[in-house]
Amino acid sequence: MTRTETQAIRQSLRQHQSQLASQDSLLQTLFSKEPQRPSSMTLQCASLHADFSKNLIDRRGLQLLLSLAEQSGLDKQRQALFDGAPANNTEHRPALHVALRGHHPALRPEIADQVSTGLDRMQHFVGQVHSGQWRGDTGQPIRQIINIGIGGSDLGPSMATAALRAWHRPGINCHFVSNVDPAHLQNCLSGADAATTLFIVASKSFGTLETLENARLARDWFKQQGGRDVARHFVAVSSNPQAAHEFGIAAENVFPMWNWVGGRFSLWSAIGLPIALATSMDVFRQLLAGAAQMDKHFLSAPFAENMPIIMALLSVWYRNYWGCGSQAILPYAQDLHLFPAFLQQLDMESLGKSTDRQGQPLAERSGAVIWGSAGTNGQHSFHQLLHQGTDLIPADFIAVRKFPGIGQSHLQHQHLLANCLAQSRALMLGKTEQQAYEELLASGMPDAEARLLARHKQVPGNRPSTVLLMDELNPLNLGSLIALYEHKVFVQGVLWEINPFDQWGVELGKQLSTPLFEALSNENLPTRDLDPSTAALIELCRQQDTHSE
Ligand code: F6P
Repeated sequence: MTRTETQAIRQSLRQHQSQLASQDSLLQTLFSKEPQRPSSMTLQCASLHADFSKNLIDRRGLQLLLSLAEQSGLDKQRQALFDGAPANNTEHRPALHVALRGHHPALRPEIADQVSTGLDRMQHFVGQVHSGQWRGDTGQPIRQIINIGIGGSDLGPSMATAALRAWHRPGINCHFVSNVDPAHLQNCLSGADAATTLFIVASKSFGTLETLENARLARDWFKQQGGRDVARHFVAVSSNPQAAHEFGIAAENVFPMWNWVGGRFSLWSAIGLPIALATSMDVFRQLLAGAAQMDKHFLSAPFAENMPIIMALLSVWYRNYWGCGSQAILPYAQDLHLFPAFLQQLDMESLGKSTDRQGQPLAERSGAVIWGSAGTNGQHSFHQLLHQGTDLIPADFIAVRKFPGIGQSHLQHQHLLANCLAQSRALMLGKTEQQAYEELLASGMPDAEARLLARHKQVPGNRPSTVLLMDELNPLNLGSLIALYEHKVFVQGVLWEINPFDQWGVELGKQLSTPLFEALSNENLPTRDLDPSTAALIELCRQQDTHSE
């Protein structure tokens, strides 16, 4: 379709949205108009169900959004992504995270061997550590793993390791250190035994300040503890083996990463080593298999039955036509408590752009703010705003039907599930002032007081949510869930014509921190070239530095 036709679709979407927005209790109306709505708006991939029926969209709206997807050339760009074309156009690289879980790219046949060799190396190493063959420099087996990395070299592996708690291997503890704040590593090292600790320095570039500073601090600690053989206690995951070797990590202990995988899409590579060490290589392979299932679904399902595509279209619908500024991610599983943080980088570092692939300013708004935390905790902090605030914030609920526990824990899990479904239902139904008034009267409250309080107890309702339901939080389903959001982000990139695989915006902050580090470290350095605020703050830090001596 031509750009004019696109504009026509966008115009129709704007008109349709204003028509829908004018209807009170739209969601309930849609259910009464479309009795088959729950089944017609529930999609499934393996044992992952997505119930989209409580979203502010009707058949006509969905048709328009699907036309937008058809017009965007999504089918061609999706195939190009899987084939290994340079989807990351500003760095002239493919984005082949799908190759890491077995999808062999047509344009890069050599990649299959790289992936399989990488997995074999992981398999061998994990086997050595788990069997006790790999010993520290005092001859003891490894008991503690400390992964030092940040961003995609931390958020993915730490999220997946936490999510797979029920599969953790006894006798191996896994920790993640990312912040350059020394407190992060110190907190991890207090009480650690150098003789049984293995450090993984995870950095695709092996040039990230936080990771290198923490790795140096860890190496100093190791030596202060009497450690002698760094090679027995430090391995690396990087696409820059030379820099890892210069740090002092033996070449044979550097696990490969490649430029054709983006950092925030890399947990499927050796960046996922801590996941495999904390559980097993079999669990890691199941994680890959789950992602592969979603890859197949994304590649083959018709757009209208395609989970990532529908999720992406709904996000575009809320962002560009309902003016929503953020989206809540609410996993009702404590083991998924790190999932919102992981998704923040995956989504916001990919879609937080203001120029299109050709560098032209975007005509539409792009990435929204992604936030959230595990339920039911959020119900006691920010759900008030979701229910009665002035902003419309679409929510993704992630629920798990079965809990591995029995007895009391099973009952508690039923409460968790009931709360999850109740929150999604409450966002839709709300409560009218009249309903609140009658409830208060029935509770014996005097009429005048009940009338007044009812105004405060009314809940607008008609607020959208999607419920993703998996039967069990296992490696297979976790892999599918993560891949679902990876492909959703890709589709939104296509719809907004942006490159979701670069992150030029993070460079400026890093660039400006170097001279400020120098100014903080050397009080003779002048601050007159700095803006007045920063100059004053530097001076303040210098004064406090003097007092603390
Ligand atoms: O945030 C910028 C970024 O480059 C991320 O994209 C990346 O995941 C992170 O820093 C860490 O990079 P590296 O793995 O190269 O240390």
